[in-house]
Amino acid sequence: MNVLIAGATGYVGSALLHHTLDRDYDVTALIRKNSELPQWQDHPRVRLYRADFTDPFWASGLPHHDAVISCIASRQGGVSDAWAVEYEANHQLLQWAQDVGVARFILLSAICVQKPRLEFQRAKIAFEQELLASEGLLEPTVIRPTAFFKSLSGQISRVSRGKPFLVFDGGRNTACKPISTRDLAQFMLDRLEDSASHGKVLPIGGPGPAITPWEQAELLARLCGRKPAVRSISSRWFDGAEAMLNTAAGISSWSRDKAEFARIAKYYATESMLVWDTDKSRYDEAATPETGSDTLRDFYQDVITRATSLDSSHHRLFGG
Ligand SMILES: NC(=O)c1ccc[n+]([C@@H]2O[C@H](COP(=O)([O-])OP(=O)(O)OC[C@H]3O[C@@H](n4cnc5c(N)ncnc54)[C@H](OP(=O)(O)O)[C@@H]3O)[C@@H](O)[C@H]2O)c1
Repeated sequence: MNVLIAGATGYVGSALLHHTLDRDYDVTALIRKNSELPQWQDHPRVRLYRADFTDPFWASGLPHHDAVISCIASRQGGVSDAWAVEYEANHQLLQWAQDVGVARFILLSAICVQKPRLEFQRAKIAFEQELLASEGLLEPTVIRPTAFFKSLSGQISRVSRGKPFLVFDGGRNTACKPISTRDLAQFMLDRLEDSASHGKVLPIGGPGPAITPWEQAELLARLCGRKPAVRSISSRWFDGAEAMLNTAAGISSWSRDKAEFARIAKYYATESMLVWDTDKSRYDEAATPETGSDTLRDFYQDVITRATSLDSSHHRLFGG
């Protein structure tokens, strides 16, 4: 099989590229004009294709592929970039896929779009719907993962230096089943030849049970050999920031984006990354599918061990 991966320079896309090669598929990495993919530059089964989706002829040299997997996502997360990337770039990719008769299109989306309140979520949903509506012309699948390990790793450095783990509103109101890039990549690749997933939206988490921010704090402290220390902040802080920025949002796109960032932060501080049960109006841990075997505990341990060995050779991974 010949697979085109869009967003192959990203966190998930680059892991996906690696695991796609393990399965003996040929891969085209569709990357931006100025992006680098040095590790794969000379690999015999990786072809690089550089494109700018705003160029009307972006696909003029791109041959037919059996499958497309899109992992592209807005790096900035601002309002117009979200629509330009999450919707428009994917739309361009789908148009091309239909034109050349690609059979399979897998979209990496996110579980949070099930309760859309943010601009990037609306853009993602707009494309999800367009993709699913194209069933018949090709076989679409939407994958909505829970939180990635990287998203839960921002405080390893703090805790290892003896600082308290920061949580919102006590740290017990939200939870997720975090998933590693390896387990997610394997799950996505399994879908390539799984006809049962055609036309489906698939939420997916890593191995349970779900973990709260409070439990992350305890886990991390234990692994760092420290007593758990947690500092709680009110998520209402973001409401004040958003209100202030909103007053200027009409006149400046900078303020508009910053107000959106405050809404994004509030969203992740207050919403779980688990399947939402609309009838019961609550998140449902048991209904959140699991895959793989990589655990957050092992990931934290690995980061701490590497940091410690780097530190002992007089390098500092963690600043301060
Ligand atoms: N973080 C989480 O916990 C989480 C959880 C669930 C789902 N998700 C979703 O998973 C997806 C992938 O996330 P990620 O962390 O792998 O993203 P990422 O590391 O930010 O990678 C984004 C990719 O998209 C490419 N890209 C950005 N703008 C582009 C443009 N205008 N044209 C072409 N390519 C462009 C980037 O290329 P460059 O390298 O050139 O910038 C990069 O390859 C996102 O949709 C995200 O919402 C995230």
